Amino acid sequence: MEAWKEFLEERERLQLLRRLSPSEERRPGFAVRGGKEYVDFSSNDYLGLSSHPALVAAARDALDRYGVGAGASRLMSGNLSIHHELEEEVAAFKSTESALVFNSGYQANMGIIPALFGRHDLVLADHFCHASQLDGALLSRATLVRFRHNDPGHLSELLDKHRGGFRRCLVMTESVFSMDGDRAPLASLLEVSRRHQSFFMVDEAHATGVFGPQGRGCIEAEGLAGEIDLVMGTFSKALGGFGGYLAASRTIVDFLVNSARSFIYSTALPAPVIAANLAALRLCLSGEAHGRDLLRRSAGFRDALRAKGWVVGGDSQIVPVVVGESGRAISLSGYLAERGFLVLPVRPPTVPEGSARLRFSLTAAHGDSQVQGALEALGAP
Ligand SMILES: Cc1ncc(COP(=O)(O)O)c(C=O)c1O
Repeated sequence: MEAWKEFLEERERLQLLRRLSPSEERRPGFAVRGGKEYVDFSSNDYLGLSSHPALVAAARDALDRYGVGAGASRLMSGNLSIHHELEEEVAAFKSTESALVFNSGYQANMGIIPALFGRHDLVLADHFCHASQLDGALLSRATLVRFRHNDPGHLSELLDKHRGGFRRCLVMTESVFSMDGDRAPLASLLEVSRRHQSFFMVDEAHATGVFGPQGRGCIEAEGLAGEIDLVMGTFSKALGGFGGYLAASRTIVDFLVNSARSFIYSTALPAPVIAANLAALRLCLSGEAHGRDLLRRSAGFRDALRAKGWVVGGDSQIVPVVVGESGRAISLSGYLAERGFLVLPVRPPTVPEGSARLRFSLTAAHGDSQVQGALEALGAP
């Protein structure tokens, strides 16, 4: 008990203590907290699909038909034909032979990596890879080595040095980085991985729905469809729903059904969630939901911030304004909140020491006037 209390006190002292703040209401681009209305720049609901009528109607129909819970895991009696329908559409969407739905993106990474890689294997992860990828690698008990962010040359050096001592090797990255909003050099990383007989895994959590033709992601946008061994993603961001997936070969998917513990030992996702995910994919395929305008607006926002003198990163709908110390990020976030903008600070350990930031996440639900309003409220550094 004492150690946990000390931990919390230390966090408080360093301005790193996190607290949960409830919203009484939320819809795309908007939240009400403590009775006050905010423009929400902190969600990953990039296309504003979380309350789209097509998703809501699909969920409602499935709710009437199947009820609230799935009742059992997929391998027991919780498996519905709608789960398979979604998997077939994900595989087609991501240009792979097969796909498997997991109960969240986090659970996907925690299931896939330890099932496919183990003690005799090597995992090379980009330094900025998401916690779920790193946790999956740690759980696998493979040797985990990090390569410098977006640096295929460093990856190549590490593979030259270490690859020989291991059975299998996995190289992994995100395609759009969640806290930096920049994009991975996928073609170069793939080339290096292949040269060293390594599997390549890409987490498309923040790219799916936004990048590429019909929102298929960065892999498709960069002409690499069908080339990547393990394409992971989530329905919980631009697709507005919930759950994760892996798109891969049939052999890998069949193997995971028999060995991924987070898949086997958890109750299936409820039908309304699956139905909403399907509706979201279909909206992307129909062209009704797309990221083109969002990316254009994000580029303009980034340029305007830079022109004011802010240090801004990224090349996507995620626009990090790097301010350095945690205290500064917290006070700027508070300043914006007073003016009606919810832009939460991101601090270590989520990002490296000294790189605390405001993470603006733009969505299709934000109008030009709201983006302009945020720019004016933030002012110059
Ligand atoms: C890159 C990345 N991978 C995986 C996840 C986990 O996805 P989910 O929220 O569906 O668990 C996230 C979300 O935080 C993420 O940003």
